[in-house]
Amino acid sequence: MSEALWTNIDTYIEERLIPQDDALLAAITASRAAGLPPIAVSAAHGRFLQLIARVVGARRILEVGTLGGYSAIWLARGLVPGGSLVTLEIDPDHAEVARSNIARAGLAASVTVRTGPALESLPALAAAGGGPFDLAFIDADKANNPNYVEWAVRLGRTGTLIVVDNVVREGAILDPSSRDDAVRGTRRTYELVGSHPRLVATAIQTVGTKGHDGFLMALVTDSGVRR
Ligand code: SAH
Ligand code: DHB
Ligand code: MG
Repeated sequence: MSEALWTNIDTYIEERLIPQDDALLAAITASRAAGLPPIAVSAAHGRFLQLIARVVGARRILEVGTLGGYSAIWLARGLVPGGSLVTLEIDPDHAEVARSNIARAGLAASVTVRTGPALESLPALAAAGGGPFDLAFIDADKANNPNYVEWAVRLGRTGTLIVVDNVVREGAILDPSSRDDAVRGTRRTYELVGSHPRLVATAIQTVGTKGHDGFLMALVTDSGVRR
């Protein structure tokens, strides 16, 4: 099995299930032109996020890590009419590209890109009474994932779904002595989520255009209803 095969299969999936979309293509093109790293979710994962938002009936979505707004566009398309998404981005250049991509997609009214370190924006959101969020997508600096999960619970409610990206990292997460901050943060996220009294979770491994990785999904419950 090879990455070329996984990529060909992603192409097969996209050709059959995910119609070409001008706003999404333009978001990728503009992000690349602006020098943003090519690390947005794949189209197949983007559509998955949209479906999750639909299933959840999301009225409010929180995203941590905007980049060029690609995943935000997918998520915002899954909102109920009149719903809103707040996405947090530390890099002002990324945020500017994202705002332009989101406006081009016709989503400027429902999406707010908030610039700044997420660990400053999250308390500000809480203080402003933002939330409760129905769905959270965590996809920023992986070292802070445990903090972001805790904030997502705080800003959520019973029934909130939390999705964390990049939790497999080609298996690097298996190394308990890794010096990689992303690996360490991800491993601490598993420990936190696995022992959290209110979270029921799993993680799903994925292969595709972005290699071997995975995402974690956690449901916020009232105290510890696990089966
Ligand atoms: N969700 C995006 C990809 C996000 S890439 C998509 O799929 O389209 C990760 C983003 O998180 C980058 O833009 C990076 O600048 C941002 N980031 C990194 N550290 C951050 C922090 N402390 N607070 C907020 N954003 C951060
Ligand atoms: C990286 C970050 C991501 O969120 C991702 O999906 C893939 C790669 C990275 O920082 O390399
Ligand atoms: Mg990611």
